[in-house]
This record gives sequence, structure tokens and C-alpha cells, in this order.
Amino acid sequence: MTFRGLLLTKDDDGVHAAITDIDETQLPDHDVLIDVSHSTVNYKDGMAVMGRPGVVRGYPMVPGVDVVGTVAESNNPDWAPGTLVTINGFDVGEAHWGGLAEKARMKSEWLTRVPDGMSASQAAAIGTAGYTAMLCVIALEKQGLKPADGPVIVTGAAGGVGSVAVAVLAKLGYEVIASTGRAEAEGDYLRRLGATTVIDRSELSEPGKPFQKPAYAGAVDPVGSNTLANVLARMQDNGVVTACGLAQGPDLNATVLPFILRGVTLVGINCVHRGQDDRNEAWGRLVQDLDTSLLDEITSTVGLDGVQQIAQDILDGQVRGRVVVEI
Ligand SMILES: NC(=O)c1ccc[n+]([C@@H]2O[C@H](COP(=O)([O-])OP(=O)(O)OC[C@H]3O[C@@H](n4cnc5c(N)ncnc54)[C@H](OP(=O)(O)O)[C@@H]3O)[C@@H](O)[C@H]2O)c1
Repeated sequence: MTFRGLLLTKDDDGVHAAITDIDETQLPDHDVLIDVSHSTVNYKDGMAVMGRPGVVRGYPMVPGVDVVGTVAESNNPDWAPGTLVTINGFDVGEAHWGGLAEKARMKSEWLTRVPDGMSASQAAAIGTAGYTAMLCVIALEKQGLKPADGPVIVTGAAGGVGSVAVAVLAKLGYEVIASTGRAEAEGDYLRRLGATTVIDRSELSEPGKPFQKPAYAGAVDPVGSNTLANVLARMQDNGVVTACGLAQGPDLNATVLPFILRGVTLVGINCVHRGQDDRNEAWGRLVQDLDTSLLDEITSTVGLDGVQQIAQDILDGQVRGRVVVEI
């Protein structure tokens, strides 16, 4: 039995991506077989498909950090055939074969039930980026942030993590400042998601003073580098910043001044190695706190044959919101 999938291989000329007929016997020996209906293209998938170092740990590899589908066969009684599941993280699509193929074999401990009331395509539209955005919002709340405390800035706002963060925070009643490099093209889009103010990312992306006029009570930052340093420098007293990404860069040229003079908290967010309690909490909150009617606005859809172009676009910062892959 064979199935179609995007397969990454590597030789002396580099990494190659091709849609390939894969034999089922090549799947890893895990306890649940999934009929994959959807995957997505996250920033990490862009890096994997375009052969950038640091993501894929071994070849051949089926990329795709998001897997949405139904259980086809299971050796674990907790996961009956027909159950709609999603997998986000656990190094799937990096060290283990991922979702950009018609079939996937997964360890049952990696599976998260798609919550009642959410369809497969909605779960994919949210995907790892949206689940990470929700983890950021939950982390802000756990540090005590409330809408009355002041504005929350979302950087990389027109991207996947950013778009979902803007929509969720706005629905929760926060005043949201969206920072984007595409203010002209995507400003109306971000305001439709609920942003109150849209600023050009150049305000934050250059090296800045270590201590600036306080402007934000909270922050969701998928961008890192100078942007995160400037966000930290602009936090109000006791402000909370969640750092989850490195779209501008992994460096952080900041000082301790915001921490020791304003009591700022910097919370790191890692969605990959999280227990199922955290995952179920985040997915449950997404049902409640994300206006799913906005998902059409946030999402575009491609087939497997469109993945390579989107992989390049996402690395070029040209993708709006989320891209779902219909398998
Ligand atoms: N910690 C975790 O567990 C976790 C989970 C998911 C994602 N991530 C990371 O979070 C980041 C965003 O992921 P994503 O899926 O949302 O990617 P994405 O859709 O590509 O969004 C990233 C956004 O960052 C902005 N950006 C891109 N290049 C930039 C630059 N040079 N300077 C400043 N801003 C830039 C762009 O937004 P604008 O056009 O609006 O400026 C872009 O849309 C990535 O680094 C990803 O690896 C981490």
C-alpha cells in the first residue's frame, strides 16, 4: 500500500522536496495510524522544506509540524478509530515524520483530541501557530494581566502566531496594538481581527535605548531580536512579555533595566514539549476565546503541490495569517 506525501531527501547538492508515493512499510513503528486530512505551513515548515539548517534532524523526512486527521488504526484503547485528533510539536516534522502526507504513524501520547465543536479544517487553521498564541495569552493571564492594565502589543502581527494572538486578545477585551512590516497592505486585516492600533514594525526593529517611555502592559512577541529588546524597554510597571519566536532573529541585545526598575516579567513559551493538560487547556480556550468566523479571514488553503511556494513565501515574510494544506 502506498500513499502520497511530501518527502525531503538530502544529498551532496542539498535538500530536495518532492511529492512521492511512499510505501506504508516506511512509516515509523508507532502505535496509532492516522488518515491525515490537513496539515499547515508554519515558519518552521518553511525552514524544513527550503532546506534551512536547524529543523530537520534526519532524512528522508516527511515535514509538517501540524497533523490533523482521524485515527485509522490504534493499539491504544484510549484512541478509537474515527477519533479526530491533532498533533502539534513533539518534534513531529523535525525528528519524526510529520503531517504533509496522506498517512502518519504517531505515538498515542502525542495525540490531542480536537475539541467538540471544532472541525478538522478549523483545527488546522489554528494549528501550532494558533495554539502557541493561546499559550502566550494564558501565560499573560497567569502573570495576572487584565484588560484594564493597559494595551498589549503583538509583534509579527500579520503572521500566524500574531494573527491568532490579535484575534484572541481583542475578543478578551484587551486594547491590542499590532506591529507589522505590512501596515499598508494588512492594516485593515489586523483591524478586522480586532487591533485598535496598527504600527509599523520599523518603530521596534532597530536598536533602541534600553529604557524607553512606558507604553505596554503586555506583549506577545514571535519576532525576537531588537524588536523584543525594544518591547522590553517600553513595558509599563509590572508588564508581562511572552517571547515565542525569532522571525527577526534569535539575538537579544537588552539590559536588565526593565526587570529591576519596572518589575517586568519575561516569559518564554515553548509549545513543543508541553504536557497534554496544557494542550487541552489551550485548545479548550481556543474554542471559547477565538471567534472562529475570523478563521476564514486568517486562513488560505493550498494542496500538497502548493507547499514549496508557500515555504519560500513564509521565509520571505509574505504569508498573511495561516496556510492550511488540504491533504
Ligand atoms: N516557541 C514555540 O513553541 C513556537 C511555536 C510556533 C512558532 N514559533 C516561532 O514563532 C515565529 C512566528 O511563527 P509563525 O508561524 O507565526 O510565522 P509567520 O507566519 O511567518 O509570522 C512571522 C511574522 O513575523 C514578522 N517578521 C518576519 N520577518 C521579520 C523581520 N525580519 N523582522 C521583524 N518581523 C518579521 C512578519 O509579520 P509582519 O509582516 O506582520 O511584520 C511575519 O509574518 C517563528 O519564529 C516560529 O519559529 C515558536
